[in-house]
Amino acid sequence: MYTRLVLGGALLAASLSGSDAAAGATLRLRGGDRQYFIAGNWKLNPATLDEAKTLAQAIVKSADGNKRDQTTAICCPYPYLASIGEICKGSKVSLGAEDCCVQDKGAFTGGVSTSMLKSCGVEFVLVGHSERRHGNIASETDAEINAKIRKILDAGLKPVLCVGETKEEYEGGLCNSVCSVQLTRGLAGVTKEEMSKITIAYEPVWAIGTGLVATPEVAQATHSYIRSWLAKMYDEATAAQVVIQYGGSVAPDNVDTLMACPDIDGALVGGASLIPDKFDKIVNFK
Ligand code: PGA
Repeated sequence: MYTRLVLGGALLAASLSGSDAAAGATLRLRGGDRQYFIAGNWKLNPATLDEAKTLAQAIVKSADGNKRDQTTAICCPYPYLASIGEICKGSKVSLGAEDCCVQDKGAFTGGVSTSMLKSCGVEFVLVGHSERRHGNIASETDAEINAKIRKILDAGLKPVLCVGETKEEYEGGLCNSVCSVQLTRGLAGVTKEEMSKITIAYEPVWAIGTGLVATPEVAQATHSYIRSWLAKMYDEATAAQVVIQYGGSVAPDNVDTLMACPDIDGALVGGASLIPDKFDKIVNFK
């Protein structure tokens, strides 16, 4: 296992210089057997299958050169899944979908079921992304998100549950409360054993696609809060093994310091995952 436990703690201790206590960060060393998990979220990009294939080939090259014990994934639009799955086969890159439908079959025009995803080689499914909670494409509720989590788990797939506060909520000091409500409702009925299949992505809405990345101190404080929430709702051992990604304007110039934080176990990357050079530096962060 890669020795990130001691290294991560030491780097953070060196970089926070006392401000961690005020930010609520903990310097607890990593527990469990968490691997770093870097995922690209392509959203409604790129415009054609040919471009998607070229991008995927570059990402496979970046990931295959990585010597770290790490999961790397591409979450791409539905029409590209089967082709991108072929490109990822035998590589270090796993395939993810950006959403799913809770129905299995029938009169649900536009729907995509978990069995369809599975048959295309999908392993991970994003759930509750803020663009689906608050965006123009959907206004998903926590109850709908919880139903999707249930569906994904029952299909033998792995959910990546996105949580995070809006700018107004952040400014109102509600970050932890918002995460707590989204976790409580999103994970309702999920057992301790099932938590081993779930990744949490903390994505402050104000940082997504804005270039306003959360500082390592702010991100670490929230990740630490999420881990303590998991310890309270499940137990310490479960909390120690859940991978918690940070998402929101992750870029080559901020990835190293974010990943050095003890409770940040990876990144969910939008814009920068579409640019091979940038995503290469993120996948192969120092
Ligand atoms: P961003 O998107 O990296 O472009 O901020 C992250 C996300 O929405 O998952």
